[in-house]
Amino acid sequence: MVSAVIKNWDKKNWLSSRNYIHKFNNFLLKAKKLNSSSKILDIGCGRGKILGHLSSKLRLKNKPIGIDLVSHKDRDKRINFKKIDALSFFSTNKEKFDLILVKQTIHLMKFNKIKSLLVKMNENLKPNGEIFILTLDPHKNEIPNFSLMKIELLKSLKRDLKILKFISKLYPKRIIKNFSYKVEITKKKYIDMVSERFISTLLGFNNKQIVTGIKQIDLKYKKKLRFNDKLVCIIIKNI
Ligand SMILES: C[S@@+](CC[C@H](N)C(=O)[O-])C[C@H]1O[C@@H](n2cnc3c(N)ncnc32)[C@H](O)[C@@H]1O
Repeated sequence: MVSAVIKNWDKKNWLSSRNYIHKFNNFLLKAKKLNSSSKILDIGCGRGKILGHLSSKLRLKNKPIGIDLVSHKDRDKRINFKKIDALSFFSTNKEKFDLILVKQTIHLMKFNKIKSLLVKMNENLKPNGEIFILTLDPHKNEIPNFSLMKIELLKSLKRDLKILKFISKLYPKRIIKNFSYKVEITKKKYIDMVSERFISTLLGFNNKQIVTGIKQIDLKYKKKLRFNDKLVCIIIKNI
């Protein structure tokens, strides 16, 4: 687990592309019925592009709330953004939500924090509200990597699996779904992403390790990278 902040996750790559956001929100709306009156919270929203698009698509009457530890200058203006830690948010929040989204963020938290957050999220759901927690698929991961990155990624995926089991034990009635997105990206762009340490696995590496890793990626992959970005989604209904 890393404590450094993630700043370049959804910075002009497939994760912030119109197509990805469109497909992801279609996945969400297929799994959860929402309408213009729905209240939505996104924990660890990053630049808030997913939430902003969802707000437009549903013509939300209430701006959805997005919280994150990092406040990006280029964040989506269609959301009500709060720069705050997830647990601290709930110490003052009085709203109840139809959907609480935690996408690719739970792995950055310690187990005792995850447990407290699950309790708080449940307390802040409307009667038909649901929590959607998404994390990298720990079994079928295809993220392009270099040798050291692979080691760290596997460690992180092992922990993700523990988190998924932990949540499933606490909420045995949870539902599991899968989201997969076909990524096509130039090697050059992916190398840029690696040099900007887009994923938490890369945050602990020093510059020399990143440079060596980039050389390995350059040798290992063709000009165009094609892979599936696969996520597991745990859905918890109000109990
Ligand atoms: C990998 S990014 C995912 C961003 C976005 N959910 C997405 O999927 O595109 C993880 C985000 O969670 C935020 N984050 C990590 N720990 C957090 C916490 N305790 N409270 C709020 N945000 C947090 C990070 O700052 C980062 O923006």
